[in-house]
Amino acid sequence: EKKIIITIDGWSSCGKSTLAKQLARELGYVYIDSGAMYRAITLYFLRNHLDWTKHKAVEDALTKINLEFLSNHKNGQSEIYLNGENVEYVIRDLVVAEKVSEVAAIKEVRQFAVRQQQDMGQKKGIVMDGRDIGTVVFPDAELKIFMTADNAIRVERRFRELYEKNPNITIEEVKANLEMRDYIDSHREVSPLRQAEDALLLDNSRLTMREQLDIALKWVHERL
Ligand code: C5P
Repeated sequence: EKKIIITIDGWSSCGKSTLAKQLARELGYVYIDSGAMYRAITLYFLRNHLDWTKHKAVEDALTKINLEFLSNHKNGQSEIYLNGENVEYVIRDLVVAEKVSEVAAIKEVRQFAVRQQQDMGQKKGIVMDGRDIGTVVFPDAELKIFMTADNAIRVERRFRELYEKNPNITIEEVKANLEMRDYIDSHREVSPLRQAEDALLLDNSRLTMREQLDIALKWVHERL
């Protein structure tokens, strides 16, 4: 049975991980949230008060970071562990989101993450979402999807998600964070966010989750 690599890149909060998880479930593939790796590294740097403008400090810190994805036995979803600690929930905090794009722009950080991401794809049968998966991590992936959605819709979706955990959050904060991350992610020097030439564009502003899954599944089956 043929297995492929599926990459999903795009702007912040346009539903990449929702689609990636559904595809992985439907196909029996592994799902990897590459953004969780950058978030976990950022969490480690913040907890250790690291000055990440210093290359040596970054390099030393990276040697002390071990990242793993383990499946949660209750819901079957993969969750990220930082040096043995489940950090899947803390990394979603706005404190981490405020700094993650700065950390993810550091060359050494990207090399550290990308190498591990490429290892995870060796056996194919993987869906990975992020910003540079189709352009840098798996340039030869069989199916590349680039997702987008209207700004207002993305802000609204992310606000609802964060509000559940923290009712003090405001829509302005969420909007400012998304705009800042998109700006940094698309303007950085090392592997900026952009649509790969051979990526298929999926704008889900006006699609239900079922509709978007069906479109993606059709693309998958055309490649199997
Ligand atoms: O996907 P998520 O929004 O959780 O990613 C958080 C941040 O991690 C992004 O805003 C981006 O700065 C960084 N990232 C990246 N490359 C990836 C995935 C995420 O630079 N492949």
